[in-house]
Amino acid sequence: MNLFEVYPTCSLNLERAYGSFLFDKRGNSYLDFYGGHAVLSIGHSHPFYVKALKKQLSKIGFYSNVVLITKQQELTEKLGILSGYEDYQLFLCNSGAEAIENALKIASFQTKTKKVVAFKGAFHGRTSAAVSITDNTKIITALNENHSRIFLCHGDEKSLISELKGGDVCAVITEGIQGVAGIVTPGVDFLKKLIRNCHRYKVPLIIDEIQSGYGRSGYFFSHKAADIRPDLITIAKGMGNGFPIAGVLISPLFKAFYGMLGTTFGGNYLASVAALSVLEVIKKEEIIENVGLIGSIAIEYFKKIPQVKNVSGSGLILGIHFEFPVLYLKESLLFKKNVFIGTASNPLVLRLLPPLNISKREMHLFIEKLQNALANIENDLS
Ligand SMILES: Cc1ncc(COP(=O)(O)O)c(C=O)c1O
Repeated sequence: MNLFEVYPTCSLNLERAYGSFLFDKRGNSYLDFYGGHAVLSIGHSHPFYVKALKKQLSKIGFYSNVVLITKQQELTEKLGILSGYEDYQLFLCNSGAEAIENALKIASFQTKTKKVVAFKGAFHGRTSAAVSITDNTKIITALNENHSRIFLCHGDEKSLISELKGGDVCAVITEGIQGVAGIVTPGVDFLKKLIRNCHRYKVPLIIDEIQSGYGRSGYFFSHKAADIRPDLITIAKGMGNGFPIAGVLISPLFKAFYGMLGTTFGGNYLASVAALSVLEVIKKEEIIENVGLIGSIAIEYFKKIPQVKNVSGSGLILGIHFEFPVLYLKESLLFKKNVFIGTASNPLVLRLLPPLNISKREMHLFIEKLQNALANIENDLS
C-alpha cells in the first residue's frame, strides 16, 4: 500500500525534538520557528508533559465518554480559570475542523437557521461545513459547495448588518487572527462591531482561536485585545502540544441535551492529561508573559531589517512581509540555515509560529539567521 499523496513534504527525516529544536537522523539540528504548524505551545518533549502522559498511559490510556473521566473536569476547570471563561461550558473533540463543525452545529441548534457569515481569507478546516466557510475554492468539492454561506470583508459593517437583518444567519465566524491568509487581524474596532451587531440580531459569534489561541498572541485568546466575549470559541493546536485534542467553549446561553453532540475519542484520558499538563506548564512557567516579551522584542528587530516591508500579528503569531515572494527565502532558511518556518497563501509573507516558550537567545539566533539568509539571497541575485 502507498500513502495517499496529499502533502508536499520536504526531505527532512526527524528523529527527535527538544524545546525549540528538531534533530534529524543525521544529527543535524533545526531551529523550529514553525511549531509543527502553531501546535507547540510548551515546546517539544517538555519533561513535565512527557512524565504526565507516561504516568497516565501506564494507568489507563483510553475509555470512551460512557464513563465519567475526571481528568476532563479538571481540564475544564483549569481552562475556565486560565482563559477567563469560568462560566462557559466545554465540549471536547479531536481536531480543529471538528471543533468548527460542532461550534456551527451548536449555533444552528439554537437559531434553527443555516447561513454562515464568514470572512475573505478565512481558513477553518477541511471537513464539510468547515471547508465551506474556508475561502479557497480549490479545496471545496461538489459535496460541500451547497452549504449556505457568504464571505464578507473585515471592516464591512454595512454588509454585515444587511446579512444579519435577513433573519437566516445561524452564525458569524472569524479567526481571532487569520493564519493561512498571512497573519491578518480583523482589527479591534471591527471585532467590537461584530459582537455588538451579533448580539443586536441574536446571532451567535464564533471566534476561531485554533491557531491564534492558547497564549500565542500574548493573550490567552487573541480576541481579548478587543475586550469581547464571543458566544462560541474554538480551540485545538496548542491545546495538546501535539496530542490531538480540540474543543469548543460555549456560553451559558446554550443548553446541552444528551446526544446533541458526541465523539468516541474526544477528551479521553490521555488527551485530557496532555491538555491539563499544557495548562499547568503555561501557568507555572509564565509562558503567556514570555510570548508578550519575546514577541515585542522580535517585532522591533524585524522592523529594522531593510528588506522587511511590514510585520503583522502579535506575540508569537507573526507575519513578516516582504516585497518579493518568500518561497526561496523559506527554503534557504531551511536548507542553508537550518531554520523551519512557515509561509502563507499570501506569497509575500513568512509566517512565524515558534514554540511559545522560546528564549530571547533563540529569537536572536533566528534574527541572525534571517539576516544572513537575506544577505545570501542578495549575493545570489547580484
Ligand atoms: C484557524 C484554523 N481553524 C481551523 C483549522 C483546522 O484545524 P485541523 O487541521 O486540526 O482540523 C486550522 C488548521 O490549520 C486553523 O488554522
